[in-house]
Amino acid sequence: MEFSSNLIKVHLANYLANLPLPNSFIGIFKLGAKDIVKLIPFYATVGGVCYLSFRVIKPRSPVNPSIKKESPKVVDGFDIEELGESTAFCRCWRSSKFPFCDGAHTKYNNEQKDNVGPLIIKKK
Ligand code: FES
Repeated sequence: MEFSSNLIKVHLANYLANLPLPNSFIGIFKLGAKDIVKLIPFYATVGGVCYLSFRVIKPRSPVNPSIKKESPKVVDGFDIEELGESTAFCRCWRSSKFPFCDGAHTKYNNEQKDNVGPLIIKKK
């Protein structure tokens, strides 16, 4: 415990105190090559911590927002004879008639700047 305490209180404090951090954004351009090299590990560590924090706290957005969420897997099957001359299957997971397309992909595409659309199966 004393080792880690000493590492943080003394060595880390000294390291941070000796970093050539500029006082302003413009100050970055006044740094020499040695100063910039000294800052690389510091900024790499800060960037890595920020990236990992973002990865952990970033909200997940599932492909399927609401269809049959009580089921561990959404599976639908049809005999080809059951389908009409042309059947459109939803691929955006927003249709109120899932697994069939009801046009909800248009609103989703406009809101999300996406381009998903249905799978259309036609009889010859
Ligand atoms: Fe989902 Fe049309 S409603 S693809």
